[in-house]
Parts: sequence; structure tokens; C-alpha cells
Amino acid sequence: MKPLEKDWAAAPVMDDRLDRTLAHIGSFYDARKFGYQGNEGYRKSTDLRKFASCIGELLREGLLDADRTVFTDLGCADGRVNVMMSYFVRASIGIEIDPEILSEYEPRKRALLREIEQGSLEPPPDNLFLFQGSSLDDSLHGRIFEETGFRFEDTDLFYTYITLHDAFAEKISRDARDGALYLVYGFHRVLPSYEGLEVLIPDVGQQHIAALFMKRS
Ligand SMILES: C[S@@+](CC[C@H](N)C(=O)[O-])C[C@H]1O[C@@H](n2cnc3c(N)ncnc32)[C@H](O)[C@@H]1O
Repeated sequence: MKPLEKDWAAAPVMDDRLDRTLAHIGSFYDARKFGYQGNEGYRKSTDLRKFASCIGELLREGLLDADRTVFTDLGCADGRVNVMMSYFVRASIGIEIDPEILSEYEPRKRALLREIEQGSLEPPPDNLFLFQGSSLDDSLHGRIFEETGFRFEDTDLFYTYITLHDAFAEKISRDARDGALYLVYGFHRVLPSYEGLEVLIPDVGQQHIAALFMKRS
């Protein structure tokens, strides 16, 4: 399939309150980024303001459906991408291998929720499921199915911020459903190529940071 045509400077896709909520979530987490200095690059945080532009394009292209889409961040850290995506998907699943990093999710989200309430913004829906373990571990996907009802092959959109992007691509190519999408954040111009996946949108949201791949049918 050819990359999608660019026509994403179209009409707004979110109402004003949701738009303000996303902006607030972006500034909340972007003020608490990890891995940009020092030796914690392995846990570098997605820039959520850029990510919001990616969501805008996915919405305009009809690739997100709040009633149907199952989203999985394959290395979710404190779940920030999950929180932002939760507004646009049916289920927002996150997997984090490091229990200490994952333990930041709850307190940080609680602090965010207080601000959301104070600002009369929109609270996230109750569709967030975060798990500790490796995304490459099949038994973890069994546990996720038991607890959420969603199997690996039910995920419509996978995500990674560079981490293990090629190993995750291999798993997606092997085990995901045909047509499943894989959003890889952290690349521009020179994109990786993955066996069994094709580039659908080379520069999602025109932020020069993320590319969307699709499992070939
Ligand atoms: C670059 S960070 C990205 C965090 C988050 N997705 C974001 O964009 O802000 C990658 C995270 O993946 C985790 N990770 C590494 N290997 C993993 C694996 N096999 N399964 C799940 N998580 C993993 C790391 O501990 C780290 O927190």
C-alpha cells in the first residue's frame, strides 16, 4: 500500500474542552520528562505535545475509534502515552518491564487528576490497564487477556518510543492481526524497515518524530 496522502490540516477533530484537557496533560507530563539529561536515555519520555499532533492526524485519517480501538504501549514507563491515548480508544494497555518505573504511574496520575478536576477539564475514561513484565513474554500476554479480555492480536495500534522497536516489530509481524498498526516514535527521514510491515504514514502529525507502519495482509 502507498503511504497515505497528506491532508491533515483539515477541520478540528476535538471539542474545545478535550483540546484544553490534552494541552494540560501535555504540559503536566512534559514538565516531568525523563532521559533527556544524564544516563536515563533508556527511559526517555515521549513529548506529549508532539504526540497530541500525532493523535490529531490519526483521528483525521480515521485510524482511531473510541468504541473499538485497542492501543498497547509496549514500553509504557509511567503510562503517560496511555493516559493521553485513553480518550481516543476503547482500551489503553501499557506494559513496563521495570517495576520501579511503573510504580510512578499511580501517584503521577493522581496528581494529574487533581489538576484536571481543579481546571474543570475532562477526566480520562476508565479504560487504562498497565502491566509489569516484558512485552516479548507470551505468558504476560496471557495474563493481560485474563485481566482485560484483550489478546495480543486484538491490539489495533502498538506503540514504542524506539525501545526494542525491531524486536517488537518482529513480534507484531508474527503474532498481531493483519492490518495492525505500529507507531514508532523517535525516527525521522531515515526510517527503519521491518520484515512483514510497511510504512503507512512516514511523518505522523508532521512533527518529524514518528512513523506509522502496518502489518501487511
Ligand atoms: C524510551 S521509554 C518510553 C516510555 C513511554 N512509552 C514514553 O514514551 O514516554 C521505554 C520504556 O520501555 C521499558 N522497556 C524496556 N524493555 C521492555 C520490555 N521488553 N517490555 C516492556 N517494557 C520495556 C523501559 O524500562 C522504559 O521505561
